[in-house]
Amino acid sequence: MREIEAVVIERAGAEPAVERLGLDDPHPGEVRVRMSASGVCHSDLHVREGHWERPGPIVMGHEGAGVVEAVGDGIDPRLVGRQVALSWYAPCLRCRECQQGRQWLCTGSPSLRHRQADGTTRLVRRDGTPVLAYLSIGTMASAQVVPVSAVVPMPEGVPSQVAALIGCAVSTGVGAVVNTARIHAGSTVAVIGLGGVGLSCVMGAALAGARRIIAVDLKRAKIDLAGELGATHWVQVDPDNPQGTVDGIRAATGDHGPDFVFEAIGLRATIEQAIEVLPPGGTAVLVGLTRFEERVSLEAFPFVDGGRRVLGSNYGSTVAAVDFPRYAEAYLAGRLPIDRLVGRRIRLADVESAFDHLRTGDIARQVILFDE
Ligand SMILES: NC(=O)c1ccc[n+]([C@@H]2O[C@H](COP(=O)([O-])OP(=O)(O)OC[C@H]3O[C@@H](n4cnc5c(N)ncnc54)[C@H](O)[C@@H]3O)[C@@H](O)[C@H]2O)c1
Ligand SMILES: [Zn+2]
Ligand SMILES: [Zn+2]
Repeated sequence: MREIEAVVIERAGAEPAVERLGLDDPHPGEVRVRMSASGVCHSDLHVREGHWERPGPIVMGHEGAGVVEAVGDGIDPRLVGRQVALSWYAPCLRCRECQQGRQWLCTGSPSLRHRQADGTTRLVRRDGTPVLAYLSIGTMASAQVVPVSAVVPMPEGVPSQVAALIGCAVSTGVGAVVNTARIHAGSTVAVIGLGGVGLSCVMGAALAGARRIIAVDLKRAKIDLAGELGATHWVQVDPDNPQGTVDGIRAATGDHGPDFVFEAIGLRATIEQAIEVLPPGGTAVLVGLTRFEERVSLEAFPFVDGGRRVLGSNYGSTVAAVDFPRYAEAYLAGRLPIDRLVGRRIRLADVESAFDHLRTGDIARQVILFDE
């Protein structure tokens, strides 16, 4: 048992607090990771705001990287000392979806229960209360014990902040483009919402050879950053004029509408815009996560008649063991400028201020740094 510092939330919707917790040693099938960086994702804000029901108390955070400090029985001891990026959806590797190579749809993942594979947790309060780890990795913590299937060793030379972002924003956004949608070179692409996830869609579209990339957001600073990452056109949204967004995207496409639209916010209005702006044959890829039970509508006849498609993209259809090293190498080769996403570096105690910035959308990715 060792002592760690972590951001704990009592239940979804409650204010988070930094607490000292006990962390047990890794059991068989688990590893202990000393965290070096944890990003702050809008999905954490969904939990903070109580949009999604979650059990508690729970250590927050699901976008992290660190160094393996110890391994449980049966795990290759050569992992100790390796830098790893953490996957927020540890695959069971046994269920039907895992066997088919669709690990992002795993039905036996311990991450579904925010526990280790045996149903227990390695975290405890001084009074003996067990504490869960968000998606089994709870990265807003100075150290964690995680399932070994959640850790992916990084190639030499990858900065810890970049490795952390590969764990969610990059895999979600780049993966939506290259895995879920599999866009072809020369496509026209629009991305609605330019947070860490949407900016990663922009980078993915550039990597995949899109002809035009239209960046769409409320904030001018986000649009400017998207331009540095490969966007060629932009639409600054006026929330009082939704039709203006649709018209602006169509005009920026130069013809009748984008071949692919990526929605990376999770609002009904922008999801409906993403579908409405499609030309015949176009594809809308829904990446942003809504509140539970949100419904959207579309006009059925032109959708069917025009052969349009809507795809849901969970975790960028990521197989972490395959995709994380690919993105890391693309970064090292200068083809995926992941480090440019980091707009603010903070300490663990500043997490509520990070949520404030996410509420206004004025900064790209914020990253919590730990002592290395
Ligand atoms: N599908 C997945 O597997 C997956 C994984 C991670 C995150 N997500 C979801 O993706 C979404 C984005 O996450 P993020 O961390 O990038 O969020 P973020 O808060 O950093 O970015 C959202 C962006 O949308 C912009 N925006 C807000 N309202 C807008 C509007 N009406 N029109 C245009 N732009 C608007 C904001 O200015 C901001 O730039 C969230 O819903 C998150 O939960 C999904
Ligand atoms: Zn996330
Ligand atoms: Zn599985």
